[in-house]
Amino acid sequence: MSKGLVRSGPDLFSFKSAKHRAEKFLMPQKDFKKNILCIGAGYVGGPTMTIIANKCSDYKITVVDISKERIAAWNSNELPIFEPGLKDRLLKVRGKNLFFSNDIDTSIDQADIIFVCVNTPIKKFGEGAGKAVDLQFIEQTARRIKENSKSNKIIVEKSTLPVRAAATLENILHSGNEKVRFEILSNPEFMAEGTAVRDMEFPDRVLIGSKDTPAGLAARQELVDLYLHWVPKENLITTNLWSSELSKLVSNGFLAQRISSINSIATLCEVTEADVTEVSKAVGKDSRIGPKFLNAGPGFGGSCFRKDILNLVYLCEHYQLNEVASFWEQVVSLNDYQMEHYVRRILQAMFNTLAGKKLAVFGFAFKPNTGDTRDSPAIYICKRLLEEKAYLRITDPQALKNARNDLQDLENLEFVEDPYKAAEGVHGIALITDWAEYSKLDFQEIFDKMEKPAFIFDGRNQLNRLALFDIGFNVYSVGKAPLTHF
Ligand SMILES: NC(=O)c1ccc[n+]([C@@H]2O[C@H](COP(=O)([O-])OP(=O)(O)OC[C@H]3O[C@@H](n4cnc5c(N)ncnc54)[C@H](O)[C@@H]3O)[C@@H](O)[C@H]2O)c1
Repeated sequence: MSKGLVRSGPDLFSFKSAKHRAEKFLMPQKDFKKNILCIGAGYVGGPTMTIIANKCSDYKITVVDISKERIAAWNSNELPIFEPGLKDRLLKVRGKNLFFSNDIDTSIDQADIIFVCVNTPIKKFGEGAGKAVDLQFIEQTARRIKENSKSNKIIVEKSTLPVRAAATLENILHSGNEKVRFEILSNPEFMAEGTAVRDMEFPDRVLIGSKDTPAGLAARQELVDLYLHWVPKENLITTNLWSSELSKLVSNGFLAQRISSINSIATLCEVTEADVTEVSKAVGKDSRIGPKFLNAGPGFGGSCFRKDILNLVYLCEHYQLNEVASFWEQVVSLNDYQMEHYVRRILQAMFNTLAGKKLAVFGFAFKPNTGDTRDSPAIYICKRLLEEKAYLRITDPQALKNARNDLQDLENLEFVEDPYKAAEGVHGIALITDWAEYSKLDFQEIFDKMEKPAFIFDGRNQLNRLALFDIGFNVYSVGKAPLTHF
């Protein structure tokens, strides 16, 4: 009998302690100054809240999402996104003051400040399709906040929204709910994927837009206090709500416009034997212009640039500012042209036919140091190469899972982790993403195992073109005359 008890003892004990450990992991262990909630556990929500949790141990941060899979991934060892330095930061605070949860409704009720980080894609249907922002996720979030709030809250727009979206949010939140007051702030995110951790830890600026009312200014001060935990005061910019909302669209517009500007010049360089790298260096040395975002390439990508510019275009059209709208629309048209131009150059170089030829695609993410492929130029370029009946071997250090998804249902392609294997027996290499590891590859070894004549299309001007030419490659760099052995 006593033996039996002894036997059952440890089981019971270990069950209790496991439960206790689980609860300890899920529940906050101390009193926190404020409860922050983030709705949307994506590329912005996850990293932003990780950094805030690291910098503000006196705040409890909860991140929720409608995707149970995403929340489970944030609670696991396999984070849903790859971002250098993120996992280290996350492991320091997860279960201490950072929590990922599926319980959206309770978390809303308990929150003092709610960051809205849901996606705001381009509308694919109805009025404004292809340009306007699809605000359905924002509206669903606002309704859910309204339904589950028993106390006043500050709502922070972190998602990128059209200018004056805060007015819509406010209408939804306050309709039929007289007792609870919501103060809306705009706090757009300026981080770039691939450098998100650094961008958030050392931001150029943090922008906070608010109403110029006592309640608006008080809410603004709460957010200022949060950021002052690590952001120098001089890097905090406060504006009215509409300036803040618009500044995010304009920032992305200006960045993308620089890329389209240099890409347009790259095409001119290719036919005039000017060299776009030299031109961009000469131009960027002008302190009024500056050197950044002047690298020619196969076109910009990522989830934001195209959508934010098209949103700007849509807004201008809405206000009947047609000349302004067409100015910004041209930035996107030029980008479409640039991707197509990259494909045509491959086609022309390879004797005007790709049928039956094999091509290795180096890089599929829209930029290095991320696995994100949303709106990556690689998607368009690969689809076009497949249309031309090329056979593709795609390689990327982080983005193959997403690449498989983007190109599902398509044939004549394979996904290969090792770039050497990807290039074996191919007629040409198309380098689309400038992962640092590609510069370190042994291109002599690669060349030796390729079909001849061997071509390389360096879409990022990343590689040493003279060395490649000496090896025997026919080298096509963006914005430079080709180096060929014909
Ligand atoms: N990714 C970037 O580099 C970046 C940079 C700056 C700003 N932004 C902006 O930030 C916002 C979010 O972008 P992202 O890249 O993180 O998007 P994302 O798609 O990676 O993440 C959004 C998340 O929101 C969740 N979601 C949608 N509706 C929801 C709801 N009603 N309730 C709870 N969760 C919901 C989705 O399931 C998803 O996990 C967008 O407006 C984007 O334009 C993105």
